[in-house]
Amino acid sequence: MRFFIDTADLDQIKEAHDLGVLDGVTTNPSLMAKSGITGAKNIEDHYKAICSIVDGDVSAEVIATDYQGIISEGEYLASLAPNIVVKVPMIKDGIKAISYFSNNGIKTNCTLVFSSGQAILAAKAGATYISPFVGRVDDINWDGIALIEEIAEIYAIQGYDTEILAASIRSSKHIVEAAMAGADIATCPLHTILGLLKHPLTDIGLEKFLADHAKGNS
Ligand code: G3P
Repeated sequence: MRFFIDTADLDQIKEAHDLGVLDGVTTNPSLMAKSGITGAKNIEDHYKAICSIVDGDVSAEVIATDYQGIISEGEYLASLAPNIVVKVPMIKDGIKAISYFSNNGIKTNCTLVFSSGQAILAAKAGATYISPFVGRVDDINWDGIALIEEIAEIYAIQGYDTEILAASIRSSKHIVEAAMAGADIATCPLHTILGLLKHPLTDIGLEKFLADHAKGNS
């Protein structure tokens, strides 16, 4: 499973990149706003800055919700850097636009996916990635990981090329469960990636190794 980081924070992107495990970045308008990036020019510069750190795919979300608007915005975003993936919401005009982008060699990430039916439609339209929101499904007392599992099964049976990008990851446990469920990628906040490092027996074991080494050298 590949790791994307789900943030617009350049320091966090650099930290995950320096760890050597980063395959890409996803952003959305909320994450941009959280990092204080507002205004078309600043947002554009910010995407360029992210793409200068990361070689892998970087999702840039359109704001337009009508077909023509999505196409012009998406084509503009895609022109900013070769690794930009146009992130398009799961709406009727979005599906139509994904189909257009797919026929014109522009990679897409269909976002706000909450059902297998939506996942099928996005795959039919030729989406490069779909983003099922695991945490937000859990929030309404449904099962976000079960959704990933179901989509993975459908895509395998049908032989769809679209990749499953598990999004709205809230914990390190979500990452492990998404891997088990067949997600191709998990897009994660930095703390959930770093959380994978943690195990008390690792800390205890390392402490003992270092203490024994020190005894042997004293
Ligand atoms: O990748 C989508 C993500 O940013 C949404 O996460 O925690 O707001 O549901 P969250």
